[in-house]
Amino acid sequence: MALRNLRVENDPILRKISKPVKEINDSILVLLDDMAETLKKEDGVGLAAPQVGILKRVVVIDVGKGLIELINPEIIEVRGSQINMEGCLSFPGQSGYVDRPTYAKVKALDRNGDEKIYEGEGLLAIAFCHEIDHLNGILYIDKTIDESELEEIK
Ligand code: NI
Repeated sequence: MALRNLRVENDPILRKISKPVKEINDSILVLLDDMAETLKKEDGVGLAAPQVGILKRVVVIDVGKGLIELINPEIIEVRGSQINMEGCLSFPGQSGYVDRPTYAKVKALDRNGDEKIYEGEGLLAIAFCHEIDHLNGILYIDKTIDESELEEIK
């Protein structure tokens, strides 16, 4: 396992659309392991492959309840709305309020190529949405609500 370098801020790769994984080969397994190690070292909640410079639909998430590995993830259902302070390993030291679903259901392949369904509430729902956005070149900074808008919502 090895740490990968994080792509940050205005790196154009963060705006690209990632490609589906066609075959779960050794390079994908190494990528998953390296992303998990990088996530842990950075003390993050989630990491998407484009954040380490790889335009593949691969995500790792750990909200403190164990590692979740997602290959070709798709959000198949969302419910509710929650506004929370959010950050991103690609924007160190920054944060902002984002409106996300309170519940998200995700379909993805695991490292064995088996299809799995995951249900997330609270922070896990946020992480699913935030990381899958990364695969489509969408960043949390695109969705932040400024303080004045927040006052109106409250
Ligand atoms: Ni992020």
